[in-house]
Amino acid sequence: MPLTEKQKQIFDDDSRWRVVCAGRRGGKTYLSMWEIAKFARFPNKRIYCVFPTYRQAKTVLWEDLKTQLAQRRWVKKINESDLCITLVNNTKIYLRSGENFDSLRGISIDFLVMDEAALIDQRCFTEVLRPALSDRQGHAIFVTTPKGAQGWFYDLYENAQHLEDWKTFTYTTLEGGLVEADEVESAKRELDEKTFRQEYEASFETYSGLIYYNWDTKTNVTPQQPEITDRTLLHIGMDFNVDPLVAAIATVDRDQIHIFDEIVISGSNTFEMVDEIRRRYPNNRIWAYPDSSGQARKTSSKTTDHAILRHGEFTLKVKGNNPPVLDRIASVNANLKSAEGDIRLRVTPNCKNVIKSLSQQVYKEGTRIPLKDGQIDHMSDAVGYLVHWVNPIRAPHVYNTGPQRFGHF
Ligand SMILES: Nc1ncnc2c1ncn2[C@@H]1O[C@H](COP(=O)(O)OP(=O)(O)O)[C@@H](O)[C@H]1O
Ligand SMILES: [Mg+2]
Repeated sequence: MPLTEKQKQIFDDDSRWRVVCAGRRGGKTYLSMWEIAKFARFPNKRIYCVFPTYRQAKTVLWEDLKTQLAQRRWVKKINESDLCITLVNNTKIYLRSGENFDSLRGISIDFLVMDEAALIDQRCFTEVLRPALSDRQGHAIFVTTPKGAQGWFYDLYENAQHLEDWKTFTYTTLEGGLVEADEVESAKRELDEKTFRQEYEASFETYSGLIYYNWDTKTNVTPQQPEITDRTLLHIGMDFNVDPLVAAIATVDRDQIHIFDEIVISGSNTFEMVDEIRRRYPNNRIWAYPDSSGQARKTSSKTTDHAILRHGEFTLKVKGNNPPVLDRIASVNANLKSAEGDIRLRVTPNCKNVIKSLSQQVYKEGTRIPLKDGQIDHMSDAVGYLVHWVNPIRAPHVYNTGPQRFGHF
């Protein structure tokens, strides 16, 4: 498929350093693949494409890249476990994760792609990749959606605007030309304003202080208790293997989530949590939204947390991996109040811990990392598992293209 206008403009620019800050599904990763192929035409090159996680490298680029290169008959050897492709011209392409950047120390790079750069540790670039580009005068392209007006990527982007041999590019999802306008409109209804501006309009938003900045006691707390009978299906977000163990208990009516009860037990275990829920709601059908790591984690020597929940006749709503923390936070904010002003998450005043954690939890100074003080943060995690499952933030649909892939979401 040919490049879009925005992609082509970047592709044709031969500055040594290019910084692309664009909306979600703007075709950034696709561009990266073309960029890799562009540099791979030359023999004996070392090309690295670094993602925030190994899983992303493997799921968003690896298969497509192999196919592209195979079609051109460029491939000599593929090392699946190492995510490395050797081409017939002896150029090597490596996909890497920024998580264990120490393992990249000492390499030399001719061309570097950092995909979703804003989510990669600053030290990965400054301590490891930047020096690796020096000996061979390597080129680099950074493609990402922004992640806040603080952090290394923001600084890089700002500095790039007045440095020689650096070039910046920015465009919104809509300008990217791959997503239709009504799809962007529907995202606006689902997302909160700040997240929408960041993810779709590629804007550097300030995130500081309160994590759930859309929390508003006036609108999100409601004295009205939902009517609960034995036949009501209960939805319970939970966090366990932590102290205290917490659960947020809700009803769900279409997209409306109403948290009306909570449980906080200190110095306890998952068995006791199940007993407490069953003591309060002996006959109700229950869907539980737990932390996914409970699949493997053992609360006692014999059984896993998830097995204990199943034994309590809970239906589990959980996937192999937890959603990324920032996605979970974004969906809670979007449910507290969307960019269009819709409110989908309400809490009754008796849920003191839920209210406290949503209204007070803050980021660590100068970061997008939630401050964990051990008391109130678990409850917002529990709420997040539930909310993110019921009203997730969807990846926008792209028209006129092949199979759907997900970017960093
Ligand atoms: N020029 C293009 N022509 C056709 N499809 C494209 C093009 N660029 C991107 N796509 C498709 O659009 C979707 C989003 O592109 P992607 O590169 O993953 O976006 P981003 O990395 O910005 O989120 C993917 O399914 C991708 O294959
Ligand atoms: Mg991408």
